[in-house]
Amino acid sequence: MTSFSSTASGSDLAADTRPTTPRSTAGAPVRLEAAHSALLADSEARAQAFLKAAHRAALVTFEGAGRSEAADRLAAGTYVATALVSLAAEGTLDGHRTTAAVETLAEVRDEPLEAARFDVHRTACSSPILVEMPPLVACEIQLRLLLLLGVATEASLWRSEQGTLEPLLSIGEGSESRRARATAKAALRRGSSLSLLGPRTLRSALVRRFGTPCAAIVARVAEPVARADAYLATTARAMSSLYERELLLERSAERERLLVRAGEQRLMRIGFDLHDGPIQDVLALGAEVALLRDQVYPFVADSHRERAAGRFDDILARVTELDRQLRELSRSLESRSIITRPLGEILHRDVDAFVERTGIETRLEIRGDPESLTSAQRIAVYRAIQESLSNIREHSGASTVEIRLRMRRASIEVRITDDGHGFEVGRALARAAQRGRLGIVGIGERVRMLGGTFEIDSAPGGPTVLTFALPRVTPDERSASR
Ligand SMILES: Nc1ncnc2c1ncn2[C@@H]1O[C@H](COP(=O)(O)OP(=O)(O)OP(=O)(O)O)[C@@H](O)[C@H]1O
Ligand SMILES: [Mg+2]
Repeated sequence: MTSFSSTASGSDLAADTRPTTPRSTAGAPVRLEAAHSALLADSEARAQAFLKAAHRAALVTFEGAGRSEAADRLAAGTYVATALVSLAAEGTLDGHRTTAAVETLAEVRDEPLEAARFDVHRTACSSPILVEMPPLVACEIQLRLLLLLGVATEASLWRSEQGTLEPLLSIGEGSESRRARATAKAALRRGSSLSLLGPRTLRSALVRRFGTPCAAIVARVAEPVARADAYLATTARAMSSLYERELLLERSAERERLLVRAGEQRLMRIGFDLHDGPIQDVLALGAEVALLRDQVYPFVADSHRERAAGRFDDILARVTELDRQLRELSRSLESRSIITRPLGEILHRDVDAFVERTGIETRLEIRGDPESLTSAQRIAVYRAIQESLSNIREHSGASTVEIRLRMRRASIEVRITDDGHGFEVGRALARAAQRGRLGIVGIGERVRMLGGTFEIDSAPGGPTVLTFALPRVTPDERSASR
């Protein structure tokens, strides 16, 4: 059997972990366990976390299917398919690992390799993990699985929009070739998946919506083509519900962009109002206090002069500080710089200012390139971090803070941890809302508006961990939401 590791080339390592076909033991998922140990034995720590999650999902299958030998077979299939989908979503799956996993399944279930491979494909295509992802990312993973499983060497997804054919996704060299385009066009026009054009190995399958073709998968496949057609048909069927969601999202994206824009414009207006109103008043107030000090000074008795000077200096220092705070607030409400300047740069600048002002040790870690975010996402990430830092300064008593931004394949994850005294989340939020304080609620709303998830985890004694994730969008969606 091949090793599950993407780096081990031989099967020396695998020799130790090679599963023999387990004999059934009533009530125990022996096949599932054998597959799990084989895959676990030779995978690095990151992959192991995904394998363990897949194992938990498979135990549910075993339980639900009645803890029999048949349930064990099902569970082993669920396990391998779930593991492969999670690793593909992380972008850490290669053909070698995929083959190793399929071989393991065939061995533990004592069945032909082809049967295991098709079952993995069928189960993976309709995995709940894919449903939770942005639809186009999930469709891309489905296409990629065709390559990883050795069914195709290139694959693409095409749609016809107002008479023009456009490639939505393409994987592998030549996937957008003239021939692939012609095959997609013919398939969409004829409404059938028969390939009359080009080489016999360029095949297509139609993605249907309410029975009507709406997109076409085109793939250069390995022989025998009839078998490859079965894979493509399975992918196309599973893709149709994802594609339906994609169309719905496209429609709501415009609404969301308008909402975000309206919200930001309102904030910018407040920034300008602050600048033109209170900031100018504070400035004038400072000048008047200085004037008053000079006018009053000659009339103050010598014995009281020092005290009076001290009081005036005190008031002037407070007015100056008020001016600085209002200006900072006014600047922070302006979102243009968040969009036009590199996000990493403005976050580092804000964190530095925060450290200087509060003395709280703060670490900012950015993994991946944040410049790939859309404008709405950049604003949401920036505002959420800004609000979290202000909460930490106001309420936490923390001495260290860690901010982590991670660009994953399907999502952007942000985690802000402080080692302060923590709080009872439900009660504090209810109390804050009664007082019209909406900082945390606002972060949640922004994140949800962009289709993300938000969580705050804290308890008296701390620490406090605020996490949110935004779905990644594809280059097409990104250009639309700039
Ligand atoms: N990091 C934190 N550590 C401890 N308590 C916190 C932290 N963040 C928030 N809280 C608590 O949660 C409450 C709600 O926070 P929220 O940001 O919603 O409102 P606020 O900060 O009180 O007001 P606003 O943000 O509108 O100025 C706070 O009043 C505070 O009690
Ligand atoms: Mg707050």
